[in-house]
Amino acid sequence: MKKFLKRAVVITLTVAMAATMMTGCKKKKKDAATLVVGTNAEFEPFEYVSSKDAVIDKYSGIDIEIIKKVGEENNKTVKIENMEFDSLIIALNQKKVDAVIAGMTITPERSEEVDFSEPYYTAKQVMIVREDNTDITKAADMSGKKIAVIQGFTGQTVVEDDLKFPFEAFKKGTEAVTELKNGKCDVVVIDSATANQYLKENEGLKIVEDNEAFESEEYGIAVRKGDKDTLDMVNASVKKFKEDGTIDAISAKYAAASETAEDSEEPSSEEGSEEANTEE
Ligand code: ARG
Repeated sequence: MKKFLKRAVVITLTVAMAATMMTGCKKKKKDAATLVVGTNAEFEPFEYVSSKDAVIDKYSGIDIEIIKKVGEENNKTVKIENMEFDSLIIALNQKKVDAVIAGMTITPERSEEVDFSEPYYTAKQVMIVREDNTDITKAADMSGKKIAVIQGFTGQTVVEDDLKFPFEAFKKGTEAVTELKNGKCDVVVIDSATANQYLKENEGLKIVEDNEAFESEEYGIAVRKGDKDTLDMVNASVKKFKEDGTIDAISAKYAAASETAEDSEEPSSEEGSEEANTEE
């Protein structure tokens, strides 16, 4: 290669590198006012895509409302990145997102990879079966049955590691529920509030609980390990929203919305009045 050509290449490369570095700096500055939050918006009532009642972009749900308020509280615009549930912790650790809110249960395994905020919601696993099913009344009855779980959810962990039953893992809850409706599996193990949601949207299903086999779980907001700034910020807001009733009000609003949609004929006395108060 001739000398001047070599020089031209060096100059071009230097300019290109400088330009990349400059855009890098620009990006960082802009990001200070933006909180990029990862979720998997296939987990109603916590996060889902909605054209009617969208909260941030096209996303709605309890988690989306909570994180929007965290942003408001800290003068940050929240940007939602929707991805597969299994990718969330990876995206967080690759710095593609600053935090994750996804009805994510705080577990010891996950706590090795990320830091969790204070818990903001208590849940448990339940079993969804077809309405005519009389065989499954407790978790042990799933032995020998065709069990469906959602890939990477704690429902899978419980079936795989605690109960040690064989199972089929689906990418989405809706896929598992369709299999159940079509008689291709006998039971779907999933978080309680989401199970309720599926019952509202699908006929012929019922929920079976087993509070002994399924311990209660707590949802937390995940941040990168050691990212004290984001953790402190999120924790201060979560603490405040738990104390001042914000989180309860948001949860009640979504519970009321879906219950009105389900069966308006039989409102249970106290719950009915409570819901009426929290409805917008
Ligand atoms: N709570 C369960 C877990 O942490 C399920 C969460 C699923 N959330 C979602 N956005 N898809 O594994």
